[in-house]
Amino acid sequence: MAESVALTAADKAARYAELLPQLQALLDGEPDLVANLANTAAALRECVSAASWIGFYVTKGDALVLGPFQGKVACVRIAFGRGVCGTAAAEKRTVIVPDVEQFPGHIACDAGSRSEIVVPIVRDGRVVAVLDLDSYDLAAFDEVDARGLAPIAELLGTLAW
Ligand code: SME
Repeated sequence: MAESVALTAADKAARYAELLPQLQALLDGEPDLVANLANTAAALRECVSAASWIGFYVTKGDALVLGPFQGKVACVRIAFGRGVCGTAAAEKRTVIVPDVEQFPGHIACDAGSRSEIVVPIVRDGRVVAVLDLDSYDLAAFDEVDARGLAPIAELLGTLAW
């Protein structure tokens, strides 16, 4: 799915801006969490062409457990505080990793992954899940992605967790 020509920042921002109302319409009125996360992962895959893997890890006790995703088979359980996903969950902040080899404790589900972004999904002050995007390209994700994904994570926080 990696594109040979990187999108401009403006193109990326425009794609996220277009996706948000589409997601709002897609999720509106549907109470089933798994269906909504699955469709969101599929919609994001269409939007974020640089991503090799897009999916959710859902908080269960003190671990994150694999939820709906698009991409290759992935690690199932990640402890809070471990890896990029666990760090984003424990610190309740978006983590951008331009080069996974430079992130101590990065969990390599796919040896081809080079960069990653993880966005926490917060409901009533609690991290209920994280949204994880990986890429085979170095530095595929930046602040434009973080800004584009933030309102999507906020929308997802309103689901039936
Ligand atoms: N790389 C992640 C693990 C999840 S996979 O990328 C799908 C991490 O370090 O938390």
